[in-house]
Amino acid sequence: LIHSEKLASLGRMAAGVAHEINSPLTGIVTFGHLLQKKFPPGSQEREDIDVIIDQANRCSTIIKGLLGFARASAAEKALTNINDVLHSSMNIVQHKADFFNIKLVTDFDPALLRVKADSSQLQQVFLNMTVNAADAMEGKGTLTITTRNVVENNRDFVEVVFSDTGPGIPQENLEKLFEPFFTTKPVGKGTGLGLAVSHGIIQDHGGNINVKSKINEGSSFFIRLPAQRENT
Ligand SMILES: Nc1ncnc2c1ncn2[C@@H]1O[C@H](COP(=O)(O)OP(=O)(O)OP(=O)(O)O)[C@@H](O)[C@H]1O
Ligand SMILES: [Mg+2]
Repeated sequence: LIHSEKLASLGRMAAGVAHEINSPLTGIVTFGHLLQKKFPPGSQEREDIDVIIDQANRCSTIIKGLLGFARASAAEKALTNINDVLHSSMNIVQHKADFFNIKLVTDFDPALLRVKADSSQLQQVFLNMTVNAADAMEGKGTLTITTRNVVENNRDFVEVVFSDTGPGIPQENLEKLFEPFFTTKPVGKGTGLGLAVSHGIIQDHGGNINVKSKINEGSSFFIRLPAQRENT
């Protein structure tokens, strides 16, 4: 992808900055709590300190997202059936209110090749795709998840497609989707790290993500991961 090099160097920088900022932030929160105890609840000082602690905690949340983006935790890869990871991701979202009126359709290839993958990282990617689709469809519509084996340049890949019936993505946003902090969601709802993190994870697995979208029809995200023949 166009931004991949920019993202890689940004990732390294983010990891460095995140580590540096984390300890002074912890200091602010810790000393904030100590100071908080010196003022009675309801006093102006107490309220001001609460704001300081809240804002510092918000910074911590953003930093955690950045560390995820920089993939601070090393991937643990094992031969994985992607259908299983998708099933467990869907179990997580199915019972959430945002999905009550969304039809989840699955078309999984039972003969899907296996992938050398970190299943919890892939779960993170699949959850972000699913939540993005639900957000876009505003609670109603159909999300279709498909898996199949594909061959590209004589190499085996597993392809996972997330197709929604949402409003689609405007052309001018398509190229910004994978940039960190690009979001069209209100403050508190999205930080714009989901697709940037997903892109990093898929790239780390030797794969790629592509998107096709049509206004008023929907969007499809295509994820390809290098697959393994059982006997190799
Ligand atoms: N299926 C989709 N349909 C329409 N727009 C989408 C879809 N998926 C992503 N987008 C657009 O891409 C933006 C970036 O997505 P991304 O997952 O990176 O961040 P986010 O969902 O806004 O926040 P976060 O994932 O950090 O909670 C979204 O804000 C939305 O505008
Ligand atoms: Mg998201």
